[in-house]
Amino acid sequence: MKVLVDRRDGLTVATDLAASGVFERPEKDDTFPRSLQKEDEATKGLVKAAWARKEVKGKRRALRGETTVFHRPDGKGRLLLVGLGPRAKFSPEIVRRAAAEVVRTCRGRGVRTVGFNLGSFVAEGVRSEAAVAAITDGAILGNYEFEKYRSTSEGKVEEAAIYLGEEFARDEAALKKVVSNHAALDDVVVWARDIANLPADTASPQRLAEEAMALGKEMGLKVSVFDEKKLAEMGCGGILAVGIGSASHPPRMVVLEYPGGARRGRTVAVVGKGITFDSGGISIKPALGMQEMKFDKSGAVAVLGILRAAATLKVPPRVIGVMCCAENVPSGTSYRPGDVVRTFSGKTIEVLNTDAEGRVVLSDGLGYVVQQYHPDEIIDLATLTGAQVVALGDDTAGMVSNDEKLAQGLLAASAQTGEPLWRMPLTDYHRELVKSDVGDVRNSTEIPVAGMLTAGAFLETFVGGTSWAHLDIAGPAYTTARTRKWQPAYQNDGATAFGVRLVTRYLEAPPARA
Ligand code: BES
Ligand code: ZN
Ligand code: ZN
Repeated sequence: MKVLVDRRDGLTVATDLAASGVFERPEKDDTFPRSLQKEDEATKGLVKAAWARKEVKGKRRALRGETTVFHRPDGKGRLLLVGLGPRAKFSPEIVRRAAAEVVRTCRGRGVRTVGFNLGSFVAEGVRSEAAVAAITDGAILGNYEFEKYRSTSEGKVEEAAIYLGEEFARDEAALKKVVSNHAALDDVVVWARDIANLPADTASPQRLAEEAMALGKEMGLKVSVFDEKKLAEMGCGGILAVGIGSASHPPRMVVLEYPGGARRGRTVAVVGKGITFDSGGISIKPALGMQEMKFDKSGAVAVLGILRAAATLKVPPRVIGVMCCAENVPSGTSYRPGDVVRTFSGKTIEVLNTDAEGRVVLSDGLGYVVQQYHPDEIIDLATLTGAQVVALGDDTAGMVSNDEKLAQGLLAASAQTGEPLWRMPLTDYHRELVKSDVGDVRNSTEIPVAGMLTAGAFLETFVGGTSWAHLDIAGPAYTTARTRKWQPAYQNDGATAFGVRLVTRYLEAPPARA
């Protein structure tokens, strides 16, 4: 979807559909808002009439704003009013959500170009730059749907125009810059969602490696792919153990290098869990919902997206991406509970549950990147534990980190992008729980407590003291038909590519260290 900036006043232009935001009035005050005057004139009094009948109230409920469509008597198309809720709670996130609701309302209604009347989305708490950024995000992300395997299409919106009007026309150049920066990043998110949504028969570890190679070619990034033979030579026993059970889809480790926009900048490594299907292996999962485990590659796909975004937006630091890809299935050759695996770093893992495979593949990726690149910071992204979803829900990722500045930097980026993130503690209690009697660490604990945090303690043993943050994205990486109605309208059904915008914005910001 293209997003254009147009100097004109949206209500004077004939469009398929133009949208304005409406605030909810304080209680007991039902006077017609002055801010809707132009909309009322454009509809020859229809808006005022709808307000008087309480059809338009500007309310938001359960993450959705009220939407009302008017057919303009002057023949200039349709006007859509979208509820923004009370002024006191207004924020860029409300605009992001409302913009997504607008494009989704347009779906299948013969709207090719949707217009946004900027003035109606700017108020205390949201300046014009923030409003155009959020409109761009909401429109592009909200318009996304995974359509690869559908033979019919509902007719999506093709173009969004943000109308500045007299009030903002003089800021056109600056606003255009904001829009193009956001559209570039949102396009990467859409691209990543398309890969993360692919089913496991198609998105094999080799296919993910090919996506990385194609990206490398397109953007001029160095990409190395390690196949099972090379992984064995390197001593990557973790990725090999998890992937050994798949007859058709052997494991791969993929390393991408973006050289950095700044001279002598810092190096940030992003490491992703790329389980193309997680059946649990010998410790097999129940059948119900198992199809969702095609999304267990979301961390690795986020890494792909972050590298594409880093190169597109030319972020200052050097960025090393590592994707740890394997298919976790049961067979006669699968790894089993009781096995002891030697990883790249030399540390050994006692496998007690083959379904705790994410940490096993990440052990090699983390160990490798530490030894090979000595990064200043490591960020890993993984759909690592069901415990994360229980603790924080479907919308919020869990973070554990050994570095205050890195953690604060990521939290600041999260506040900016609207991808919720919450930091959790990592203590000696969790470290104690993952110690093994047989090897160095065990991949599942004796007592089933704090699953997200013991997984974090496990990963910590492989970062060798490097500044590190672990993002457990098991909940927010995807939605299902059941869970998505509770999510903002810019989260489609399926992969969300959570983390791509967040980590990219973190990389864009000035170095976290003083
Ligand atoms: N891929 C799963 C975690 C997951 C659960 C992701 C739900 C997305 C939604 C992971 O590999 C897993 O199965 N973890 C186990 C670990 C346990 C066996 C220690 C879990 O969380 O139950
Ligand atoms: Zn698992
Ligand atoms: Zn998994």
